[in-house]
Amino acid sequence: MPDRPIVFSGIQPSGSPHLGNYLGAIRPWVAEQARSRNYFCVVDLHALTVARDPALLAEQTRELAAVYWACGIDPSHSTVFVQSHVPAHAELAWLLTCLTPMGWLERMTQFKEKAQGQQAERVGAGLFTYPALMAADILLYRTAQVPVGEDQRQHLELTRDLAQRFNHHYGDTFVVPEPRIGQMGAGSRVMALDDPTSKMSKTGTGEAGCVLLLDPPDALRHKVLRAQTDSGRMVDPARAGAGVANLIEIWRALTGATPKAAAAAFEGRGYGELKHQVADVLIETLLPIQARVAELVADPGEIDRRLAAGADIARPEAAATLDRARQRLGLLPARGG
Ligand code: AMP
Ligand code: TRP
Repeated sequence: MPDRPIVFSGIQPSGSPHLGNYLGAIRPWVAEQARSRNYFCVVDLHALTVARDPALLAEQTRELAAVYWACGIDPSHSTVFVQSHVPAHAELAWLLTCLTPMGWLERMTQFKEKAQGQQAERVGAGLFTYPALMAADILLYRTAQVPVGEDQRQHLELTRDLAQRFNHHYGDTFVVPEPRIGQMGAGSRVMALDDPTSKMSKTGTGEAGCVLLLDPPDALRHKVLRAQTDSGRMVDPARAGAGVANLIEIWRALTGATPKAAAAAFEGRGYGELKHQVADVLIETLLPIQARVAELVADPGEIDRRLAAGADIARPEAAATLDRARQRLGLLPARGG
């Protein structure tokens, strides 16, 4: 049997995970994990690009790992670990930062969006160099595929460019990874419920627009019922505005229905009915996940043990790639290393 492809992806433990993380990332990871060798990382170093409360960061790091497992990430296919437990990430990130032209980083729309409106004095340099750290994450594991939401496409292009640049200048060292975006159809770009022109995010428009995976059922229903639609009242899938289209996409992603089946289900129905159906399937999907998360976070010691075991698997893989990169660059081998 040919070797299964290596998959790497990660989510930042900043804020609580939301429906965009689930539909754009975690669900596709779970659906495909048996076909590949997977590394699913809680990227805590990335979360430091914006100031964090230390106690909250620790709590949200464990919580995010618990969410991965509760959603169905299976230890027999997938290694779950914390980025900062494998020092090679930070080290390769430096080597790659030195290889990254400023112009490439200046073009990153996520940086432009996040830094926009903030004074340069208040934006940490990490927010700017962050794509080099993300490239290090991916390249350390000789990753073939990176399943992410649509918003990460540009960062993945930069990762590919960096891998090629390194290989070209210093000899073949890194595998050039492929993005895996939206192969599940719906869900690769979930929009905010209160503003369907911007993507759902932890730091985005506000509480009301962001469905958290750990929101209690009444909050889930409340947020969906208050979702922005348009001046119409009946669903017309062919002409739906952004808000109605987003609700249909969410329903489709959660049920696995085709666009045709979704059209058949909602054509000519009232917006209220669409919203209740979305709320129903959301609650049905998330309640069992929430119950498993609650069990897992009740035992932080066990979470820490599992994460330590994951890091023990990741560390030697990452160290081997880092060593090759160090040699290629002419860094002397460390004594005894
Ligand atoms: P982040 O929360 O920025 O760490 O994102 C982690 C993963 O979730 C990445 O694969 C993102 O592409 C994905 N993601 C974040 N927001 C959304 C969204 N609104 N729709 C779809 N995927 C998303
Ligand atoms: N940058 C990603 C985000 O904000 C998170 C991330 C960090 C990531 N390292 C990664 C995703 C490596 C995939 C692969 O969504």
